[in-house]
Amino acid sequence: MTTAVHFYDHQPTEAYSLSMQEDILRGLRAQPKYSSPKYLYDQRGSALFEEICQLPEYYLTRKEEAILATVVEEIGELAGEDVSLIDIGSGASRKVRLLLEHVNITNYLGIDLSRDFLFESTSILATDYPWLNVHAICADYSKRLPLPPELTEGRIVAFFPGSSIGNFSPAEASAFLAGIYTALPPGSGLLVGVDLIKERAILEAAYDDEAGVTAQFNLNLLSRLETELDAHLDPERFVHKAFFNDRFSRIEMHLVSTMAQVINVAGEAFRFQEGESIHTENSYKYSIEGFQVLAQRSGFSCRKVWTDGGGSFSVHYLEHQS
Ligand code: AVJ
Repeated sequence: MTTAVHFYDHQPTEAYSLSMQEDILRGLRAQPKYSSPKYLYDQRGSALFEEICQLPEYYLTRKEEAILATVVEEIGELAGEDVSLIDIGSGASRKVRLLLEHVNITNYLGIDLSRDFLFESTSILATDYPWLNVHAICADYSKRLPLPPELTEGRIVAFFPGSSIGNFSPAEASAFLAGIYTALPPGSGLLVGVDLIKERAILEAAYDDEAGVTAQFNLNLLSRLETELDAHLDPERFVHKAFFNDRFSRIEMHLVSTMAQVINVAGEAFRFQEGESIHTENSYKYSIEGFQVLAQRSGFSCRKVWTDGGGSFSVHYLEHQS
C-alpha cells in the first residue's frame, strides 16, 4: 500500500544544478575560498550526517532529544490543539516523532533540499502515523519558506531543531527568524534548538571525531563536485580540519589542501597553496541570553527556554504574539 504524501517540488533539479555550479564557482574564485554548508547534504552527505548524530563526541543530538523528551508535555501545552507542524530541514524526520506522540498535531509539513531523503522519510512518517496529514516540500529553506495555503490557517508551530540555525551568521540568523516571523500568523510558535558556548575541547571533538565520520562528511563535498560538476581533483589531497574560532564564537570546518595543486571544476582551474583551504561550514554557538536577544530583535517573544543539566544545549519556544 502506498501512503499519500502531498509532495511539492520547489526545486527543479536542473535549475538547482545551475545555481549550485554558480555558487561553488563563486566560492572557489573568492579569497579565502568557501562553499555553502548546504552542499554537504547530498544523499550520501545526509546519510553521513545521520551517522554523525550517533557519534559519542557529537553530543548535540542526544542532548536535544533528552531535553525534548523531558519537556514535550509542556511543549504540548504551549502549542495547543490542532497544530500544523512545519519541520524545517526535516532530514530523517526523527526528532519530530517525539512531538507527534505528545502534541496534538493534525498536519505535518517537512521541508528539505535533499529530495530523495525527504520523500523517503516523509513516506515512512505517513505510514507510521496514518491519522497524520503529511506534506513535503523540496525547497531551499534558507531562501524562502514556502507554505501550502491549507497549512496557513489554524495554529502553526515551526520546528527548527539540531542547532541548524548555527549554520547562519548571527546577522543571517536574525534575518531568517524575521522571515519566519512574517510568514507565520500571530499565535504561532517556533521551537528551535541552539547549541551553547562551552569548553573548546568538547566543541572541537564534536566536529573532529575519532572514527573520522565528520571528515568523510566534509570530504564528500569533493566527491560531489567530481560527479555533479565534472570536477577533476584528488580528494586524497585534502584533509578535514575543524576548530573553534572564539572571536566569532563558531566552529569552522575546512578542507585543507595538503600540497600546492591545481584542481579543475566545471572547466575552470583553481590554484591552491599548500595549507590553503575551502571553508565549508560555520556552526555558531550562543549563550542563552545572546540567542534570546537575536530572537527578540526578529519580532519573537521568548516564551520558554530549556537546557540539559550540564547546560550544553538549549531548546527555545518562541512565539509570534498577537
Ligand atoms: C546540522 C548544522 C546542526 O553544525 O552541528 C555536524 C552540521 N557539521 N558536524 C552542526 C555538522 C559537522 C550540524 N548542523
